[in-house]
This record gives sequence, structure tokens and C-alpha cells, in this order.
Amino acid sequence: MTPQLVTTIAELRSLLDRHRAAGRSIGFVPTMGFLHDGHGSLMRAADHDNDIVVVSIFVNPLQFAPDEDLASYPRDLDHDREVARSNGVDLLFVPAVEEMYPQGEVLTSVSVAELSARWDGASRPTHFTGVATVVSKLFNIVGTCRAYFGRKDVQQLAIIRRMVADLSIPVEVVGCPIIREHDGLAMSSRNIYLSAEDRAAAVVLRRALDAGEQALYAGERDPAAVAKVMTDVVAAEPRARIDYVAVVDPLTLATPDRIGAETQLLIAAFLGQTRLIDNAAVRTRPESS
Ligand code: PAJ
Repeated sequence: MTPQLVTTIAELRSLLDRHRAAGRSIGFVPTMGFLHDGHGSLMRAADHDNDIVVVSIFVNPLQFAPDEDLASYPRDLDHDREVARSNGVDLLFVPAVEEMYPQGEVLTSVSVAELSARWDGASRPTHFTGVATVVSKLFNIVGTCRAYFGRKDVQQLAIIRRMVADLSIPVEVVGCPIIREHDGLAMSSRNIYLSAEDRAAAVVLRRALDAGEQALYAGERDPAAVAKVMTDVVAAEPRARIDYVAVVDPLTLATPDRIGAETQLLIAAFLGQTRLIDNAAVRTRPESS
């Protein structure tokens, strides 16, 4: 069935209140549109677990710095409606900026300290406050639900989980696997910015993660040594420029002294002007002492 297009907060609230009153569970997938199968996988998970699926499409100005790609961020509502339709979505919430931020300037913000400051937050200092603010607003609009996020943006996922816990937001956050192109590049709305040469070179992110993973499986337990293995892989690709490589604890996203049983590998790199991120969760046996 074609999803119902909803553009106002009041209408979405009243539709969802009626569904909840009838005992139906709500699955919610927040997005910025230009939907691909990474988004599709979240919709399918939401459809599997819930009676009603709502997807939001909102290119949130708060999470873009002035020099970033807000104006040029790709948009294609017809295509997005088709992706939503073929993945079991019931309601598509597509508010205008004026509907979300009627006062213009937004004075209230949600900031998840520490977790927001490192890695992507170091490169994009206002980004995660913009994300946490719009996601808390969307959670307030949608109400009690399960909300689906991709592990592709693993720092974002950690921040949302922490925000929900700290503020007792009545939302169950569900993390979903990374969906990749055939050559291993993680799907992203921003991949469309890549030239053919940069698109081919972009698999270096996945290759670096694989090399880090192999080093862990081979018994390396020094985070700096694993990071060096990953950095060397990217350095061998002249089209790529590293933003950061990190070997971190999956919960705190801080670098440990020694690697434990669970490790999160993170990478961000520029291909041309386009900044891509990727990551891998690795489970290894603890070091024998
Ligand atoms: P957007 O980049 O559109 O991503 C929406 C959701 O899709 C996020 O949870 C993201 O992690 C997930 N996603 C993107 N690519 C994926 C892939 N290859 N595999 C699996 N999941 C993937 O993230 C945002 O929008 C915004 O910051 C938002 C949370 C909507 C707040 O504005």
C-alpha cells in the first residue's frame, strides 16, 4: 500500500494516538531521505516488529555546519515514497523546516556530552547536538515506539541510546546491521557525490576495517598498533585522505589501554570533498595473562 503522506505534527500525533489507543505498536525510522537499502533494512525491521511503521524524512538544518552540504543534500521524494511503499511503511512524515522550527531560531538543544565530542564530533563540533535535538523532538512527536537506527552511524546510535536512558524517553532503540554495496562500500546518501574514480577507491574504508579485524584475530591487543595497520591501508590509496582511525570500546567510544573482548573499529576519510564513515564491531577472545 502507498504510505500516507503527513506533513504536520498535529496530524501525525492524532493518527498515532489513534493507533496506540487501538493497541497497535509503532515502529519509527528517522531519516533525512534520499533513501537507499540501508534505510530500507530499517523499515523492514520496523515492519517485522510492529503493527504500524512511520518513517520521517527531514533534512535537519541543526546538524549541518555552515560550510557543510545542507543546501545540496540530495532529495528525491518520489523515489523515497517508492522505497517506503516497497518496505511496508504506513506513514511518511515529511515536515517543512517551518513546521519543525516555527520560531526560526531554536533556543533549546539536547547535548550528550563526551560521547558527542570525540571522533565525528571532533570533526563536526555542532553535529551531534543537532542530531540529539531533532531526534528528541521527533520522539516527542511520535511518542511511545520502537525506533530503528543503523549501526553505520555507530556514534550516533550510542548518543541516541544514552539520551534515551538519561532523559527516560519512552522509546526502545533498536540498532540494525550495516548494509553495503557489492564491493563492500557502506550505503550512504552521500555516495552519490563521489566521482567514478573516488567511488572505486572508496572501498579502501572497508579494506582498512578488514585489516584491523585481521590484526585483532591474529592476537594484536594494542589499540595503537591496530590503528596503524588500518592507517597504512588507507595511506596506500592516494585518492583517500584520513580524517580519523580509532580503536575504541563499543559503549564509551573511548580508546582503551588494552583491547578487551569487544572492540569497535572506526574510520572516517575524505574521497575528494566527500567525507565517508564506516565501522566494524569485532569480538575476540580476551588476552590470556
Ligand atoms: P540518515 O543519514 O538519512 O540515516 C537514517 C538512518 O539510516 C540512520 O539510523 C542511519 O544509521 C541509517 N543508515 C544509513 N546508511 C545505512 C547503511 N548503509 N546500513 C544501515 N543503516 C544505515 O542519520 C540520519 O539520517 C540523521 O542523523 C537522523 C538520525 C535522521 C537525524 O536527523
